[in-house]
Amino acid sequence: MKLLEKMMYVEFFMIVMAISVVPMSYGHVSRIDDVAEAPGSDDNGGLDTAWYTARATFYGDIHGGETQQGACGYGNLYQQGYGLATAALSDALFNHGYTCGACFELMCANDPQWCVPGTIKITATNNCPANYTKTTDLWCNPPQKHFDLSLPMFLKIAKYKAGVIPVRYRRIRCTKTGGVKFETQGNPNFLMIMPYNVGGAGDVKAMQIKGSRTGWITMSKNWGTHWVTGVVLTGQGLSFRVTTSDGVTKDFINVVPKNWGFKQTFDGRINF
Ligand SMILES: *[C@@H]1O[C@H](CO)[C@@H](O)[C@H](O)[C@H]1NC(C)=O
Repeated sequence: MKLLEKMMYVEFFMIVMAISVVPMSYGHVSRIDDVAEAPGSDDNGGLDTAWYTARATFYGDIHGGETQQGACGYGNLYQQGYGLATAALSDALFNHGYTCGACFELMCANDPQWCVPGTIKITATNNCPANYTKTTDLWCNPPQKHFDLSLPMFLKIAKYKAGVIPVRYRRIRCTKTGGVKFETQGNPNFLMIMPYNVGGAGDVKAMQIKGSRTGWITMSKNWGTHWVTGVVLTGQGLSFRVTTSDGVTKDFINVVPKNWGFKQTFDGRINF
């Protein structure tokens, strides 16, 4: 009995140690967090807005032509409201496209030679794919967290010659103008909906669709941020039920008229 009691005591002591050690190792992080979230910060709800570390590079030129389109499936990023404030995320952050539309704040960290003071806010619109045949500059291979920024964004936090920089980043709520937009793609037997201009958490976790003559139908995620159903809904008005990664769900009722076609965009009128 004595031995068992002793073991239980040791176990309890170890748990107490573990609990008290964890926040200590993140002390540095929370200090920066306090500074950045000084007066005026809003309620972040279910979003993890802690600061983490990653690296950043840039791709494309100052005009950002190469940063258009991308693995999330967005098109003309200027027309869709993202502009050049975008990044391609490594697989570890991209999460098979589930992170598309999420917003981040980044700052260059611990590199006095190359850092420019200040932070940038970007939306995830692309994937920086892993390349297992490369032997150098493996920034985007798992498990590394990496942001490949548009050049104009990179230059706001670092000097051009830096090439690659350590960054600190955190999730922030997305501020978008106007309603969530829904683009119809695919064909009658494979209706694909791409939501964009999503505010709040910004990244879509689940989506349902409802025809004027159906109940809610759960959609499945295809590539990037495309959601599909095999149910034929041609000739019916459409409504959408969107859940963002923070668990908030909004209904966009009758946003598509019954004479809709493919490759059209509809305004959801409200946003997160
Ligand atoms: C992967 O890296 C190799 C070696 O640098 C390169 O030749 C190849 O084009 C890369 N593949 C892709 C898909 O970028």
